Amino acid sequence: MSFPNRRPRRLRTSPAMRRLTAETTLAAQQLILPAFIREGLSEPHPISSMPGVVQHTTDSLKAAAAQAVELGLGGIMLFGIPEQRDATGSAGIDPNGVLNKAIGDVRAEVGDELVIMSDLCLDEFTDHGHCGVLDASGRVDNDATLEIYAQMAVIQAQSGAHMLGPSGMMDGQVAVVRQALDAAGLQDTAVLAYAAKYASAFYGPFREAVDSQLAGDRRTYQMDASNRREALIEVELDLAEGADMVMVKPAMSYLDIVADVAAMSPVPVSAYQISGEYAMIEAAAANGWIDRRSAIMESVLGIRRAGADTVLTYWASELALWLKEGK
Ligand code: PBG
Repeated sequence: MSFPNRRPRRLRTSPAMRRLTAETTLAAQQLILPAFIREGLSEPHPISSMPGVVQHTTDSLKAAAAQAVELGLGGIMLFGIPEQRDATGSAGIDPNGVLNKAIGDVRAEVGDELVIMSDLCLDEFTDHGHCGVLDASGRVDNDATLEIYAQMAVIQAQSGAHMLGPSGMMDGQVAVVRQALDAAGLQDTAVLAYAAKYASAFYGPFREAVDSQLAGDRRTYQMDASNRREALIEVELDLAEGADMVMVKPAMSYLDIVADVAAMSPVPVSAYQISGEYAMIEAAAANGWIDRRSAIMESVLGIRRAGADTVLTYWASELALWLKEGK
């Protein structure tokens, strides 16, 4: 036999051959759209560091959710931006607060056609921008924060969320959320644990998106970028506390973590392609430095290939449109 006797290029000879042998697929049902709603807006407000993403009004959010159903997306993850903030984030536990109201509005719009998820965290609601309440020394108080998370969980579920996303990285947050839901008779409300969430520079544009008041950083509660094995502790704890799904966040700089978690997790694994990942690709594409569409496709496919069952991405609806067109 003439050299080379193995020719992997045979399976790459045509689009049909490549389609047949693709190991990883992308489908609308695997995509979750993160969406922002801002209290008191009269029309959608663009987020300059995230071109194409807006802070929604109630109407535009409902339209985005209806379109997500139309496109067959897996879910929508809601974030609220309140008009008033205070030290304890009390708008988060107000049934008429912006996020809780939006959950109800979206649920009324789409019913059970789409999994409605809500961010369960205090950073959008506190005047200091931290994900929890502060103790006398200004440090985030883990256990005092958990008491508020428990109340938020019940209100978000009662407002109509199918799945809650505790994202504050407080120890024990999944357990208190699960216990609070069960005690309120909300056994069917699921928990998507932000299990391995790293302190990341790539959250930058999100801080604009939610008008974050944060001075400083979140390094006493979010994970350090140096650590790989520690992610498995976080996931094991969240599973033991009752997480129905687990998430790794960010995605692109943490694909080793996505792969590790996918290898050991008995529950579905999500990865969050965050604001800075979106902004980088949009910025490079706007400069003509990369091909926008193929870069977006490749980035999300890479996250899936690493092992994520579902991907939160700001491109969810656009990707689903492309998938629908069959391109
Ligand atoms: C916390 C939260 C953040 C993001 C999602 N949930 C911000 C943070 O941890 O600083 C970031 C998402 C993104 O950057 O796209 N509520």
